[in-house]
Amino acid sequence: MDTSQDRIIIFDTTLRDGEQSPGATLNVEEKLEIARSLARLGVDVIEAGFAFASPGDFEAVQKVAQTVGTEDGPVICSLARAIKADIKSAAEALKPAAKARIHTFISTSDIHLKYQLKKSRAEVLAIAQEMVAYAKSFMEDVEFSPMDAVRTDSEYLYQVLEAAIAAGATTINIPDTVGYTTPSEFGALIKGIKENVPNIDKAIISVHGHNDLGLAVANFLEAVKNGARQLECTINGIGERAGNAALEELVMALHVRRQYFNPFLGRPAESTESLTNIDTKQIYKTSRLVSNLTGVMVQPNKAIVGSNAFAHESGIHQDGVLKNKLTYEIMDAQSIGLTDNQIILGKHSGRNAFRTRLKELGFELSDADLNKAFVRFKDVADKKKEISDWDIEAIVNDEIRQPPELFRLELVQVSCGDNSSPTATVSIRNPEGKELTDAAIGTGPVDAVYKAINRVVNVPNQLIEFSVQSVTEGIDAIGEVTIRLRHNDKVYSGRAANTDIIVASARAYIKALNRLYAALQESENKQTVVSS
Ligand code: KIV
Ligand code: ZN
Repeated sequence: MDTSQDRIIIFDTTLRDGEQSPGATLNVEEKLEIARSLARLGVDVIEAGFAFASPGDFEAVQKVAQTVGTEDGPVICSLARAIKADIKSAAEALKPAAKARIHTFISTSDIHLKYQLKKSRAEVLAIAQEMVAYAKSFMEDVEFSPMDAVRTDSEYLYQVLEAAIAAGATTINIPDTVGYTTPSEFGALIKGIKENVPNIDKAIISVHGHNDLGLAVANFLEAVKNGARQLECTINGIGERAGNAALEELVMALHVRRQYFNPFLGRPAESTESLTNIDTKQIYKTSRLVSNLTGVMVQPNKAIVGSNAFAHESGIHQDGVLKNKLTYEIMDAQSIGLTDNQIILGKHSGRNAFRTRLKELGFELSDADLNKAFVRFKDVADKKKEISDWDIEAIVNDEIRQPPELFRLELVQVSCGDNSSPTATVSIRNPEGKELTDAAIGTGPVDAVYKAINRVVNVPNQLIEFSVQSVTEGIDAIGEVTIRLRHNDKVYSGRAANTDIIVASARAYIKALNRLYAALQESENKQTVVSS
């Protein structure tokens, strides 16, 4: 294997580590849609899940392997603890992929060894070697991670890495599991590994890191300067706790500043060739898709993909940008696929124009889904004269990308005003097909709607986040409501869009309740299987 890479491998773990964000749970169809989008984006490796974790995870890895893991597509990877059953399950799920990788890991820091694994350093070293060899018996491409590497004694880390490479690991990944390191320390760690692991030339050095101190991207860039050639990251930086290193930030830093990074990869500084395989024009679309499907919102001031990332508010900046963009812009909005929010469709636009625009925006809908979306488009066009790309995106997300529809909202009506008690009436079809109607009074119209829905659905939960964002400008704009609710320490999200924000609020709540209800049913089914 050639490990003297002069480009950066992008390993996307949105579907594995990213999905560990509270409330970001995705169903198999949603995972497939994200995987397809990641393939269009041009990532080199998709970590599709943790096959052994549950039958749902197994199915997701298998389906991604089947549909996206083609000869010219990305490598499909499954995570596996350094345990035979995990590794076997990963290998089984990955069978349909043309290019597959098992990523196995075990903790190596003393604190994890003592309190979590209750094993000695020698025992963990032996397990790492044995399990990498076991993974290698299934496939050539094996990645090994010493978990909590950053807090591991460096001499011991070198020994474990040497043993893993000797057993066949082709990538060794250095995780900052707790988001503790700083750029210069992380750079020095990678340099130390290059200098002290005798067989390091037989493996690619990868990095993985969490953003607890907001340093993940900076740490990775320093790692690149010191020899790391694979970056493990997620779209919008989603993931456990403060998230993972953000793919879009890494890729755009390497793109915008490629002349600075070129020499570290052995290229002439002036080379304009891309340092990654990513099609940067797909970044914005992929970011929106992940945010829509996971329900994890992107903060407005988020680098690269936040709604304010390319907005100039100050008069001095606006003046400069009008005279010459380069005065205040280091990159072009179009380079991440952000087109001007052109007004292109209206109520006289036909199905063909709608279909063509959808295609241009990257939506490949079946005829049935296209029909559903078109009906909704006409409905919105009746209320709103001008339909922008962002409206179309909101319509498709709302109409087509639905969690299983167990409860269906048939009607919502509110009465409110400054001299009346906000009152809501809702009619909901339950999973057995029966329509139930109830009413409630609340502190405001949304509170009244949620109380009325709770009376019908009757699944205890705590609402932990409610937000409304306008998709476009103007009084007739579509409002997008995102909600997150908690049940037994798990978070479920829902998002819906409508020109009426009360309707959007009700639909978002029903979507989150449907996810919660589906999860309750799944765990009930599992218990029945176990006890029968
Ligand atoms: O953060 C971590 O250490 C991980 C490993 C499984 C690579 O996610
Ligand atoms: Zn992680």
